[in-house]
Amino acid sequence: MLSLALRTSRTALNAYRSRGIHAPASLNAVTETDLAHFASILAPSSVISSLAPVNSPTDELDPFNQDWMGRFKGNANTVLKPKTVQEVSQIVKWCNERRIGIVPQGGNTGLVGGSVPIGNELVLSLANMNKVRSFDPVAGILVADAGCILQALTDYVAPLDHVMPLDLGAKGSCQIGGNVATNAGGLRLLRYGSLHGSVLGLEVVLPDGTILDQLTTLRKDNTGYDLKQLFIGAEGTLGIITAVSILTPPAPQATSNVILALPHFDNVLPLFQTVKRDLSEILSAFEFLDRTAYDLAVKHGQGKALDESEVEGAQCFVLVETSGGRREHDEEKLNDLLEKLLEADEPLINTGVVSQNPSQFESIWGLREGVTEAISKEGKAYKYDISVPVATFKDCVDATRDHLESKGLMRPDAVKYVVGYGHCGDGNLHLNVCAAAYTQEIADALEPFIYELVQKHRGSVSAEHGIGAMKTHALHYSKDAVSIGLMKQIKGIFDPNGIMNPGKVLE
Ligand code: FAD
Ligand code: MLT
Ligand code: ZN
Repeated sequence: MLSLALRTSRTALNAYRSRGIHAPASLNAVTETDLAHFASILAPSSVISSLAPVNSPTDELDPFNQDWMGRFKGNANTVLKPKTVQEVSQIVKWCNERRIGIVPQGGNTGLVGGSVPIGNELVLSLANMNKVRSFDPVAGILVADAGCILQALTDYVAPLDHVMPLDLGAKGSCQIGGNVATNAGGLRLLRYGSLHGSVLGLEVVLPDGTILDQLTTLRKDNTGYDLKQLFIGAEGTLGIITAVSILTPPAPQATSNVILALPHFDNVLPLFQTVKRDLSEILSAFEFLDRTAYDLAVKHGQGKALDESEVEGAQCFVLVETSGGRREHDEEKLNDLLEKLLEADEPLINTGVVSQNPSQFESIWGLREGVTEAISKEGKAYKYDISVPVATFKDCVDATRDHLESKGLMRPDAVKYVVGYGHCGDGNLHLNVCAAAYTQEIADALEPFIYELVQKHRGSVSAEHGIGAMKTHALHYSKDAVSIGLMKQIKGIFDPNGIMNPGKVLE
């Protein structure tokens, strides 16, 4: 399970300021008068504040003010943890009237600085809204409070023979509301598609406190504009998601995985074509790690390393997962594929290690899922989550490394590694630059260089993590002026006072 130790860095404090990001002057900080109002509507355990008379120690506020990477740090004096949608509504209504900025916060595992304040906005944590409301075992439709942790929902539906349609390395901490707010992709998107498809309904508290009840459990509903879609991926800028209705697929009867070592990156695309064709309906993940990512995962004890002889000469690795209905059938398909790959005149792979039992299955996934944790143990990560053609994955990593080299920054006290991994099956590369510390010099070398690279490949500056505070200035590399103009109009309609997650997504 993911450990969420918060890391501090002196430079983290400047991540907003260095980019000129600050809370709008039109917004107010929470005062003692506001706190007295919140205390009158919430249980004492739902209020954390450095203001009198609550006077919580600052270390109680710290985990809500600092992001997972230790890169972005806010200055909220108050965190509220309501237990019901009515409480959320009352808080938001008050904040709207008093022009107090609100940051909705789920598990705080976001990787773009969206989940923490940019100034002294109020943090509204959904952690206390964590009940399953209903589950229909025939239709597979789950309705749950937004604060339910993804792993808890996975565990809830498992004995009922269903799986959540999404899975990610942060599952032990991230919340379903946060997943929907970021439109998280993750490791199962290849099989089950995006949350824009699986989410059937939402309950949302709008920025004036109105409760929007779109918590439908219908598969089909063509009654005009599909409003819920606006909140999926809005990163808390249009309202607070308080409950989610989501379609959960039937649990596969058999799953397996294999880690493949490839001699050249050039083999990835032909391998993907072959794997898709030969495994067809049982293929459920096709994930990529370059050699540096693999070595870092092993170095930091993520998953189980392959034997030295198996990884010798491997330039990169691919993890293939199968999920199907009949074990014998699926195993036969996977074994046939491996035989074919290894016996080819010019094999696309050096070797492949297939899981033989659940613990090996987890170990193989650990190598891939553990890369994020491994990089964060190694240093400070500049994380670029881009969509580019798969054929260019290696070029993007190499070009970034060469560029940093040309600036004299590839050295142990500056940039230690440039790493590539990700959801190859979805065309999503995680290009990470692992540095000794966050510095302005490295930031300046990386941007706009990486965004221009993405633009050259007609890609997206955010495949799945979102824009948050980190990429507001880069939105235009992937969205044209007309689109950004419409987004601003939509924001203005929902949130005319700009209280909802200020400084995120839109500048
Ligand atoms: P938070 O981090 O708390 O918030 C994220 C954003 O959503 C913020 O803008 C916040 O304001 C908003 N928000 C949160 N809850 C609500 C709500 N109820 N209503 C409205 N807005 C809300 N992401 C992927 O897409 N794919 C991955 O594979 C993946 N793997 C990860 C692995 C690790 C180890 C880590 C640390 C992160 C990973 N992430 C991944 C990023 C992150 O986990 C996801 O973005 C996740 O969906 C965030 O959920 P959260 O509950 O932690 O939200
Ligand atoms: C992943 O795919 O591992 C996640 O999106 C997290 C990351 O980018 O590090
Ligand atoms: Zn990812």
